[in-house]
Amino acid sequence: MTAPPTILHPISSDTSTFSDQWHKHRSIAYSNKPLISKFKIRLAEERDAPLLPAVERSAGRTFLQHPKLAWIADDGTQSVEQHLDFIKRGLEWVAVNGDAKDAPVGFLNGFLNEETTSTSTSTSTTFHIQEISVEAEYQGKGIGRGLMETARQWAAGSGCEALTLTTFRNVPWNEGFYRSIGFRTLDSSELTRSLEVMMKKEADAGLALEARCAMFLSLDSGGRS
Ligand SMILES: CC(C)(COP(=O)(O)OP(=O)(O)OC[C@H]1O[C@@H](n2cnc3c(N)ncnc32)[C@H](O)[C@@H]1OP(=O)(O)O)[C@@H](O)C(=O)NCCC(=O)NCCS
Repeated sequence: MTAPPTILHPISSDTSTFSDQWHKHRSIAYSNKPLISKFKIRLAEERDAPLLPAVERSAGRTFLQHPKLAWIADDGTQSVEQHLDFIKRGLEWVAVNGDAKDAPVGFLNGFLNEETTSTSTSTSTTFHIQEISVEAEYQGKGIGRGLMETARQWAAGSGCEALTLTTFRNVPWNEGFYRSIGFRTLDSSELTRSLEVMMKKEADAGLALEARCAMFLSLDSGGRS
């Protein structure tokens, strides 16, 4: 078991953003993590489901680095039953550490949405990413990008017009990460009906609306928004 990542303590007189501070300290935060030379991504199977809440719990430790979001480290996780439901529908992938155990160290799941735009009556299908998590000691090694690329390829091949998700603004491993892949943060006027509903549910569940954003990646042009 490795030590948890270094917790960053922002200095109040420092005017740099949390993102700047994170980049400055990132090498320290990663220095305790073992290197893995290979990982594999496959569709999740029923036997994976009982192991996935622990992966999400471990992933949540990343938020201990963020002064205002540290509470997420103790927040709940998706249940085994929810994972089984994603798995049954073929909408969950796991990253495994390439060893004989074949046990997941990361996962991504989501669901398909039929969207109607306000300007037309035709519908389009989007794949909404519900959750992506990588175990704390395996983060920063490209597994998150690998899972997102798997979802992008699958969604494009399944006729989806876009990937969507909701996440925390101004957090390097949330909005910053997705932007680096090509996602665009939507203005409130651009929200699809289902994204509007999801953001409302998040607000009702106690998440500060101004801290959250909805993001969109068009798959029309090979993944550029
Ligand atoms: C988001 C998450 C899945 C990314 O997984 P990962 O395997 O660390 O991702 P990668 O190694 O592919 O890195 C992706 C990018 O994340 C960004 N990143 C920012 N802060 C990071 C941090 N503290 N740790 C890891 N990655 C971070 C970097 O831009 C990184 O790209 P780079 O290495 O090219 O600079 C992982 O950080 C995680 O599980 N976080 C906790 C749960 C969470 O926030 N889920 C998303 C909910 S919307």
